[in-house]
Amino acid sequence: MLVEEIEKNYNKLGIEIIETIYTDDYLSIGGTASTEDLAVLAGVTQQSRVLEIGSGVGGPSLHLAATYGCSVVGLDLVETNVAEANERAKARQLDHLVSFRQGDALDLPFAGGAFDVIWGQDAWCHVPDKAKLIAEIGTVLAPGGTVAFTDWIETGPIEGKAREDMLAAMAAPNIATLDDYKRYLESNGCTVVHQENVSDLFVSQYRAIMSRLAEMRETLSKRFSPRIFEIVVERNNCILEAFQCGALGGGRVVARKR
Ligand SMILES: C[S@@+](CC[C@H](N)C(=O)[O-])C[C@H]1O[C@@H](n2cnc3c(N)ncnc32)[C@H](O)[C@@H]1O
Repeated sequence: MLVEEIEKNYNKLGIEIIETIYTDDYLSIGGTASTEDLAVLAGVTQQSRVLEIGSGVGGPSLHLAATYGCSVVGLDLVETNVAEANERAKARQLDHLVSFRQGDALDLPFAGGAFDVIWGQDAWCHVPDKAKLIAEIGTVLAPGGTVAFTDWIETGPIEGKAREDMLAAMAAPNIATLDDYKRYLESNGCTVVHQENVSDLFVSQYRAIMSRLAEMRETLSKRFSPRIFEIVVERNNCILEAFQCGALGGGRVVARKR
């Protein structure tokens, strides 16, 4: 079942490990720099009503609210992420602007046209039916509104066991190409205005994370356990190999609803 699969990856321990090796508040590799780059391309303003789908413990949503003063709703499948993100919003006195709720990207619990910006930061690769995800987004996005996201995308061939291992390490049921996303967006009333392959950036960020991980061997082995540390390294090495062989990469997309 989807929730259980995602919870295995993003349970409290998983989150603690990911935040330690990535950066505070973020369960994605690019951190605030990636949020900022996308916000500029998306044209986020104080008036924007933003929905982040796959909001984790709140990194991008909290940053957008703190920087632009816009209203943000974060949606995440995992209840413990939602509770943690709401606590962080409260602790930073941003809870008048940001709230987080539990829900599934494939069944968005919002009225039609409720948002001006739909945001995704490296989360949609986990969603099993990406065509349906974009159809749901098309419904809750107001006319003239913007879809802006980064994601891990398929950039080259990878088959058999290597593919299975990569998808398992990513906790992704499948992976889309930039062209897949473009097709889904165009068939749901959106025009793609920016489509960028940011694989080089993703690879360099991932290499930096792997170096940090190696430096933290002792600390992490003590804090979690040597076995957990080894599992984290194995899993991340598998992802790094997929990045380095050109099968896996990063994409940044902005589209406008017609
Ligand atoms: C890689 S993390 C990114 C979180 C956040 N965007 C960030 O940059 O820190 C992916 C998040 O997507 C959530 N997620 C996965 N599948 C989902 C779904 N079907 N519906 C809603 N959230 C989902 C996970 O629980 C996780 O918190």
